[in-house]
Amino acid sequence: MAREISTVGVIGLGTMGAGIVEVFAKAGLTVVGVDGTPELAERGKGFLEASTGRAVAKGRLSEDDQAAVLGRVTWTDQLGDLKDVDLVIEAVPERLEIKRDIFGKLDDIVRDDAVLASNTSSLSLTEIAASTKHPQRVIGMHFFNPAPVLKLVEVITTLFTDDELTTSVRELAERLGKKPVVVGDRAGFVANALLITYLARAIRVYETGHVSREDLDAAGQVGIGLPMGPLTLSDLIGLDVVKEVCDVLYAATHEPSAAPPALLQQMVTAGRLGRKSGQGFYTYEKAGSGTVLDAPAAAERSSGATKTVGVVGTGDLATELVEKLTESGAQVTAVDDPAADLAPLAGLPLVLLVGGPEAGCEDCGGGECLIAEGADPADATACECCHGKAPAAWFGAVAEALDERTVVVPTDEASAWALIGHLDPQVQVVPVAVHQPTRAGQLVEVARQLDASAEAVDGVQATFDAAGFVTLASRDRAGLVVDALLYPHLNDAVRMLDSGYATAEDIDTAMTAGCGYPQGPFAMIDAIGAEEVADGLTQMQLETGEPALTPSPLLVEHAAIDRPFLG
Ligand code: CAA
Repeated sequence: MAREISTVGVIGLGTMGAGIVEVFAKAGLTVVGVDGTPELAERGKGFLEASTGRAVAKGRLSEDDQAAVLGRVTWTDQLGDLKDVDLVIEAVPERLEIKRDIFGKLDDIVRDDAVLASNTSSLSLTEIAASTKHPQRVIGMHFFNPAPVLKLVEVITTLFTDDELTTSVRELAERLGKKPVVVGDRAGFVANALLITYLARAIRVYETGHVSREDLDAAGQVGIGLPMGPLTLSDLIGLDVVKEVCDVLYAATHEPSAAPPALLQQMVTAGRLGRKSGQGFYTYEKAGSGTVLDAPAAAERSSGATKTVGVVGTGDLATELVEKLTESGAQVTAVDDPAADLAPLAGLPLVLLVGGPEAGCEDCGGGECLIAEGADPADATACECCHGKAPAAWFGAVAEALDERTVVVPTDEASAWALIGHLDPQVQVVPVAVHQPTRAGQLVEVARQLDASAEAVDGVQATFDAAGFVTLASRDRAGLVVDALLYPHLNDAVRMLDSGYATAEDIDTAMTAGCGYPQGPFAMIDAIGAEEVADGLTQMQLETGEPALTPSPLLVEHAAIDRPFLG
């Protein structure tokens, strides 16, 4: 039978501890909040008053309910005040020696049947449990920041943990309105092992200087559709916490992708810890604030938009681009028939080439046979199956019809390949990737190649900005920014599944309920297609040589038989 838990102690009243106090008090439990000094205990009380005060101001909580929540909590600097609680949750800084010291002391304070839980985000729960007199009553309850908002609680068990205890804690999490995911004790558990590795990878991309801070965040928020960009999220979590989790993950796995990036280490050493210190990747109004001071003024790039644009190609994307560009006031010359006269394209400053499956014949998939069979791409008749009607040949003819002042914008790889050998070397090529819309908008990534002028890149960006897209510019690398962030992250999730640590469903729950993802990694892979993810990873792996980019064998299997991960 599940045990009765009605009184809870929370040790450590920083951001997470105070948030956890709020969760329990709002669910009607009696809470004892403990921190090391009366001032720190008072600060914890202040956090709860401020947070519930904001809820009252927004009309989400009545003043009476706020008073009831505050009335359920007592604040103290004495661990001894925890002697009667049913459950203690420790949320002190992530240092094993501090946690072991506290758990050791609790042994002599709390009742023998009290549960001892840790909110550790990555440390070994087994090591914490082993230092206590009753390791079978030690369990992990890992909340996510902001704890009052995010639904996930990772319930971490060790070899010592009682099954009955696991059931009780899972039920308790459900009573709190949370979504528990029960997993064993492994570095980073589910969510941090995936999330923090993704953040480390993003920081490493930022370190290269290939993309700006805002553009990198737009890739995560608009391109992938996550609630925040990776640098903004790192600042929210705290760069010291991100680094600590990287350290733990790296020590456990020796995966270079988990190692803390040099820039992250330097920022932590310099005391730039993110929102909590007032400065991280962004500069904030004051310590603890989320208001960014050094955000650039809203871009007015769209004033440099090109007013006459050609769109060559067929399919949904071509239709969408023609519509949006026309609505933005551009005069659009649309060419959607390989037999059409190409003369109207001559002299246009910007021409978009849109491939897509509908534009090529079924056999060659839009020109891929030219590449795969090693045929001379300059030979428009080389594509025997579609006799020059696939983009490979059609776009080649278009390229030859263009004026040398035209900026050519291939929107996919087949279009870009089709240009090889046809273009006047003077013509500038600015490839783009148009993403599916997400809840934050529709992203277009603009690739900066070495020989493209800043003017050409800016002009392409401005044209898409004016047409209502969100744009970012980065160096032209495999996967650009969005796929370079997303695909390795998805691959890590597949590796985790393949390692037997958690189910695909639990991993998806962890990332949606713990990090606010609109859908979990496996739902994302099923939507994109395992083959596309595996192919994208292979391209990146070929370009960088990074071992972590090798597609997981399980991903390759799913790709080979076209089997979804879910359902
Ligand atoms: N405390 C209480 N409530 C908060 C809050 C806080 N700190 N921050 C936001 N909220 C509430 C707001 O009041 C608002 O509530 P209402 O809609 O009822 O008014 C709601 O949350 C949404 O807030 P906003 O509209 O201001 O902003 P948003 O929609 O952008 O959401 C967010 C903010 C919830 C933080 C969202 O951006 C998000 O989910 N981001 C991802 C955060 C994430 O990944 N966290 C996990 C980090 S990893 C971790 O924590 C584990 C670890 O061990 C390191």
